[in-house]
Amino acid sequence: MIKIGMKRLAKNPNAARTLPPLPFEQDGLDTARKVVRSWAGYAPTPLCSLSDLAAELDVGAIYFKDESPRFGLGSFKPLGGAFAVSRALSRALTEETGNEDPDLFSDKARAFAAKMTITAATDGNHGRSVAWGARMYGCRCVIYVCASVSQKRRDAIAAYGAEIREVDGSFDDAVRKAGETAASEGWHVIPDTSDGETVVAPRDVTQGYMLVVDEALEQLKGERPITHIFLQAGVGGMASASAARFWQAYGENRPVTVIVEPDQCACWYESLLAGEPVAVTGETDSAMAGLACGEVSLIAWDVLKTGADHMVTLGDEVVEPMMRYLAQKGGDARPVIAGETGISGLAGLVATASNPDARKALGLGPDSRIFVINSEGDTDPEAYCRIVGKSAEEVLSQ
Ligand SMILES: Cc1ncc(COP(=O)(O)O)c(C=O)c1O
Repeated sequence: MIKIGMKRLAKNPNAARTLPPLPFEQDGLDTARKVVRSWAGYAPTPLCSLSDLAAELDVGAIYFKDESPRFGLGSFKPLGGAFAVSRALSRALTEETGNEDPDLFSDKARAFAAKMTITAATDGNHGRSVAWGARMYGCRCVIYVCASVSQKRRDAIAAYGAEIREVDGSFDDAVRKAGETAASEGWHVIPDTSDGETVVAPRDVTQGYMLVVDEALEQLKGERPITHIFLQAGVGGMASASAARFWQAYGENRPVTVIVEPDQCACWYESLLAGEPVAVTGETDSAMAGLACGEVSLIAWDVLKTGADHMVTLGDEVVEPMMRYLAQKGGDARPVIAGETGISGLAGLVATASNPDARKALGLGPDSRIFVINSEGDTDPEAYCRIVGKSAEEVLSQ
């Protein structure tokens, strides 16, 4: 039995069952499906059933969407960042040529792309995804990181030919720097967060992320409906996209939606309680690096302000036991390679399902059928090996 505690739990006072107008393009999901499925190496990621863990927690079922194999990049992120690169290039080409549906892999498009510079700020995975997309389409790429981004994560971005620039301060400072430089240099910035002014690229990113749940809904066909979803949130792009896709599919019967964050950078917890976006400042670093953000994305806010039901926060001490548990026991048929941020949604479930008060507050019980995302694998292989005691390859071959 795995033992993990939670820090704080609260109910969103503004949660609603009715679907608001979603802040996405009308045909955005179809476009994302078409583009992403056309990339070499596309395959739906596995949906694992964690029935041992479900039995331990006395819940009906746990479905764990394992994003670790996604395009060999180790996380769900290529669905957003690289998709947004394709949209930026497509729109620029349309403006140049008048062609509404340009072939992005034609010689003409590649010659055009070679003159474009794409930039983004990242705490690791988004930058890797944008750099991968920029290389696929032949654009130059500059990625801004804050000091806390590990060397291994920087190397993984640079491996796709991107230039890495370090910014003093936090992830939020890196986001601002990328935006300012893009404006002064005429580059295309692909933020995974929206301040309300930059809207198009973060909307594309979020639209691409919807494919995680879009695939899962296909994989869940024939199963009884999902009752709960636990979604880890940094700026909230992944959580809002996932909640929105369930909302589209289930309507008023949408699952109970729980947002999971590190306690020290719980901007969703604070913002949802306040009923408006609230920035968390100070020491926002976390072992769950992908969630170390102090400011919510305003596109995600439009969905989650009423689409989130509860918020739970965790301490960094949950990370290592959860990673080891998944490496040892994992899914029913095989272990699951889950990185520090990857485990956080599941850790939120374990922490609340094993706490009687939280269990009651969230309505968790033997009939609950829960959906969670393993959002990353061993994106820092050195850290993974140190924590788990084995490399991902060794874990998978055991
Ligand atoms: C592995 C992983 N999971 C989850 C997230 C959170 O995504 P978002 O910032 O869209 O909330 C990130 C963000 O970088 C991430 O890298």
